Amino acid sequence: MSTQLSQSTLLAWYAEAKRDLPWRHTSDGWKILLSEILLQQTQVSRGIGYWLKLVERFPTPQSMAEADVDEVLLLWQGAGYYSRARRLHALARQVCLASSEGGYDGVLPTTSAELLQLPGVGPYTAAAVASIAHGESVACVDGNIRRVMARQMKSTNPSVKEVEHWAKKNLFKPDAGDWNQAVMELGATICTPKRPKCVDCPIAPSCSGQHDATSYPEPKRVKRKRLDLMCELRYDSSGLPLLVQRGEDGILAGLWGPKMAENIDIKSLKFIGEVKHVLSHRDIFVQVWLGTCSQGRDPATVAISSLDRKILELRAGN
Ligand code: ADE
Repeated sequence: MSTQLSQSTLLAWYAEAKRDLPWRHTSDGWKILLSEILLQQTQVSRGIGYWLKLVERFPTPQSMAEADVDEVLLLWQGAGYYSRARRLHALARQVCLASSEGGYDGVLPTTSAELLQLPGVGPYTAAAVASIAHGESVACVDGNIRRVMARQMKSTNPSVKEVEHWAKKNLFKPDAGDWNQAVMELGATICTPKRPKCVDCPIAPSCSGQHDATSYPEPKRVKRKRLDLMCELRYDSSGLPLLVQRGEDGILAGLWGPKMAENIDIKSLKFIGEVKHVLSHRDIFVQVWLGTCSQGRDPATVAISSLDRKILELRAGN
C-alpha cells in the first residue's frame, strides 16, 4: 500500500526551504513571464543577473515593444537560445496592439488560455505565469515535475499525458502557484537528476522509487549532432573585427559575428585554431581562419553569442 502524497508537508517544506529568488518577490505577470522564459534554458544562478537587467530596462511589455529587437538581444547576450529573446520581443509587440487588432492594449493577459496564444509561450510557461502571478488552478509540467512524478510512481518513462494526469491529480488548487513552484523546487534542489537527497525529502513517505531513485525516469538517449563550420575572422587596421548580422533563421539568428559557413574560401587566410561549442543537442566545431578587412565594427556595441566571443578571443594569441 503506498501512502498518499502529502500536499501540506510539501507546501510547508517549500515555505521554509525555498530559495530567495528575486522574481519570488513580485506578482507582476510580465516580470514572472520574463523569469519563466529565462529559466526554460538558463540555470537559476545565471538567470538572476539576466532577469535583473531585463526588468530594469523593460519593466512593462510596452517598454520592450517600443525597443528595437537588437536591444533585447544585446541584453540577452550570453544567456543562449536567442530565439527566446526574439519571440519575447514579438510577444511584447503583440500584447501592445489594440484589442481591436488582436492585442491586449499593453496589458499581459492573465489566463493560461490567452497566454498560450502568444509567441514563445507553450503550455508550461502559460501555466506557470497564470498560476504564480494570478492563482489560476492550472498544473505545470516541466522536467523537474516529470522527475518527481517518475520517482513517486516508480515510472521509467512516463508520457507527457501521464505526467499531466499526475500533476493535475495532485495540484493543490487553493494555491496552485505555490504548489507548482514547490514541486519544481523539490525537483531542482532535492529530487535532482544525480545524487538525489532522498533523506531530506519531505515527500519520501509516498515515494515508490526512492530506493533506486536515479533509475526513474530512465535517461533519454539524445543523439548529439556534430556540426562543422568554418569562420572567416577578419580585422581592420585599427583592430576591429568584421561582423555581420545573421539572418532570421537558425541558432544564432539576429546575432552578430564573423562570417561563418560550412565552407569558405580560405585563399589568403591563415588557420589559427578550432573552437568547440556545446549546445543541448549539438556539438559545434568551428575552424577559424584569420584575414584582413577595410572596416570592422566594435563588438561591444552589438549582440554577440558566446560561441562568437570564443572565436574573437582566439585571435589574442595570433
Ligand atoms: N524552474 C522554473 N521556474 C521555476 C519556479 N518558478 N520555481 C522553481 N523552479 C523553477
